[in-house]
Amino acid sequence: MYNIPYGRQSISDEDIDEVIKVLKSNFLTTGPKVKEFEEAISEVTGAKYAVAVSSGTSALHLSSLVLLNKDDKVLTTPNSFLATSNSILYAGAKPIFVDITSDGSIDLNFCEEMLKKDSSIKAIYAVSFSGKMLNQERLKELKQRYNIAILEDHAHSIGAYEGGIRAGSCYASDISTFSFHPVKTITTAEGGAITTNSKEIYEKLLSLRNHGIVKTSDMATFEYEMRELGYNYRLTDLQSALGLSQLKRLEEFLQKRKEIAKNYHKAFKDSSIKPLYPYDEGSAYHLFVVRVNYHDKRELYEKLHQRGIKAQLHYLPINKQPYYKSLGYGDEDTPMMDSYYKEALSLPIYPSLKNDEQKYVINTLKEIVGE
Ligand SMILES: Cc1ncc(COP(=O)(O)O)c(C=O)c1O
Repeated sequence: MYNIPYGRQSISDEDIDEVIKVLKSNFLTTGPKVKEFEEAISEVTGAKYAVAVSSGTSALHLSSLVLLNKDDKVLTTPNSFLATSNSILYAGAKPIFVDITSDGSIDLNFCEEMLKKDSSIKAIYAVSFSGKMLNQERLKELKQRYNIAILEDHAHSIGAYEGGIRAGSCYASDISTFSFHPVKTITTAEGGAITTNSKEIYEKLLSLRNHGIVKTSDMATFEYEMRELGYNYRLTDLQSALGLSQLKRLEEFLQKRKEIAKNYHKAFKDSSIKPLYPYDEGSAYHLFVVRVNYHDKRELYEKLHQRGIKAQLHYLPINKQPYYKSLGYGDEDTPMMDSYYKEALSLPIYPSLKNDEQKYVINTLKEIVGE
C-alpha cells in the first residue's frame, strides 16, 4: 500500500554529519554556522544582505515591523498560508485581499487599479505561489509608479527565477522572505530567512531578531542597549548547519522537482485534469497544483487519501477564515479565488518521489475522475 505525502524533506548522511559536527562543537546556537548560512543565502539569491530567523512566520513578522506602520493599508493575496497576512496584522496594519490570476498569484493589474483609486495604500505583499515568480518588471513598475513598499514572500521559491532575476534578489522589492519548513525545497526543520539590499533594513532586522538589542564598538563587553521592542527569533547553529548542507543540494532538488513537474504535464496533456500553468523552467515547483472539475471536492480528497495519496489544498481563502470574518473580511470580490479553491488539488512533489509512485498518483486520479 502506497503512503505518499504531498511533500517531504530529503535528508542525506552528509546533512546528518554536518549537524553532528555542530553538536560536538562549542556553539549550539549563534555561532559561526549562522553567519555562514546567511552568506550562502546571499549568494544563492544575489541579495546584499541575509538574516536567518526561526521560521518563515518570524521572517514575515520582523519584515512587517520594518516596512509597515499602524493602520497602513497593504494589498495581499487570499491564496497563501495564513502567515502572510497575519504578519500585516501583527504590525497593526490592514490587509486588503486582491483576487488572483489563473496561475494562483495576486493579480497585479487589480493591484494597480486599487493603487490608482487609493493613494493611501502603502505596500504590496506578494507570494510567489507554488514556486512561480511574479513578473519582476511589472512589480518594479508598480513600486516606482506608486512609491510603495513591496515584500515578496518566497516561502515556496528558493532557487526560482523569472526573466533572469532570482527569487530573493529584491530586484523589485524591499524585502524577500523564505521558509525552511520540511515540506519546502530546503529545510532547517523550523527556520526562515529575510533578504534585502538595504543596509538600514538589514541592521533593523538584526536588532529586532535579538530583543531590539544594539551593541556598538565603543561599548564595554558587558554593555548593550535595548533601543526598541524585539524578539528572540534567532536560528540556531544546528539548524544553520543543516541549512548549509541542504543548500549544497539545492540544484539537485530543483532538477528533481522539475522532472516530476514535466512528468505530470505529459500525463495530463489530453486530460480534463489541468495543471495550474504551463511548464515553467523558472518555477521552483514547491507545489504542483492541478484543477479538477469533480462534483464533490471532499469526496475526491477522501478517495485519494484512502488510496494512500495525501493530496492537499493550497489554500483555503485567508479572508474567509473565522478570525478574518470577525474582523469584517470575507465578502471581497474575488471570483477567481472562489473558483480556484473549489478545483485546486496539490499533487505529491518532492525529490524522493519515485517514478512508480508518480504513475500511481496519475493513474489513481484519472481513474477517480473517470478517465
Ligand atoms: C507562503 C507561505 N508564507 C509563509 C509561511 C510560513 O512559514 P513557516 O511555516 O516557516 O513559519 C509558509 C509556510 O507554510 C508559506 O507557505
